[in-house]
Amino acid sequence: MTAVGLGKIILLGEHAVVYGYPALAAALDRGVTIAAVPTPAGGSLRIDIPAWDLRVLATDDHPVSRALLAICDELGVGRPAVTLVGDAQIPHSAGLGSSAALAVAVARALLAYQKRPASPKEVLAAANASEALMHGRASGVDVALAMAGGIGVFRKTTGLQPFPSVPLRVLVGPSGAARTTSAMVDKVADATHASADDKRLRELGGLTDIGAAALVAKDLPALGAAMNRAHEILAGLGVSTEQLDSLCEAARVSGAHGAKLTGAGGGGAVIAIAPRDREQAVLTEWKNAGVTGFVATVGGGA
Ligand code: MEV
Repeated sequence: MTAVGLGKIILLGEHAVVYGYPALAAALDRGVTIAAVPTPAGGSLRIDIPAWDLRVLATDDHPVSRALLAICDELGVGRPAVTLVGDAQIPHSAGLGSSAALAVAVARALLAYQKRPASPKEVLAAANASEALMHGRASGVDVALAMAGGIGVFRKTTGLQPFPSVPLRVLVGPSGAARTTSAMVDKVADATHASADDKRLRELGGLTDIGAAALVAKDLPALGAAMNRAHEILAGLGVSTEQLDSLCEAARVSGAHGAKLTGAGGGGAVIAIAPRDREQAVLTEWKNAGVTGFVATVGGGA
């Protein structure tokens, strides 16, 4: 059986979500798939994802190995002699939730291998344990989306509250510049003294409310305006780069309603919302800048 974990985009609220503010986020229709197959001759637990050039043993000194062991411990499955063979339809280290997608798929695959039901509570706990190792103080938004799909508002205290929305077309531009989420989360902690009272974090949280209401009202220009402002604040907090700024600017100049970095920043991906007849212009500008973007349709009761 093949287990799935979905990638995600954050439309509004990244970083502020770590401090308890809401984030508006959506699962992508792609992510990571994992099948657990017995390792020949009873060899040790390992993971093999050719699409990411990733092949590690659970005992290796590698972040993915440590995450894998954390998942096994949380699930209480021991160290089964299996190879977790995977495929990935999203790049890693790109702000698209690859580590959470991997953790969810691995947890589901291990439970399926042991013929245990994929209890959402257990999968959530296991994937969060993995994310805590990978990213330090992760909010849990990536795991929630990787499991549930759809679109919704996530808060650390209440989890994901899905809401029905018209399908939303989002242009996604993976910049190709890798970064680590934990370093960006630390950067924001330094800039804000890790205080939820910081007015920039507060404004990011407010923009999530504005953007979610705009999305429900199908007011894409208002959603775009909130995204533009969020990018400005995130840049002020030090998590944008010249490349991300210029990809966002290129999208706006090409007629997008709005554009911003998505996820932790410092590299990773940008997203844009554009009128349908401007989408190709945005993608072409990104292509000219060396970035192959794609259109993701999110929400829509998925
Ligand atoms: C990562 O996708 C988004 C951050 O807000 C971190 C988190 O919420 O875990 C930067």
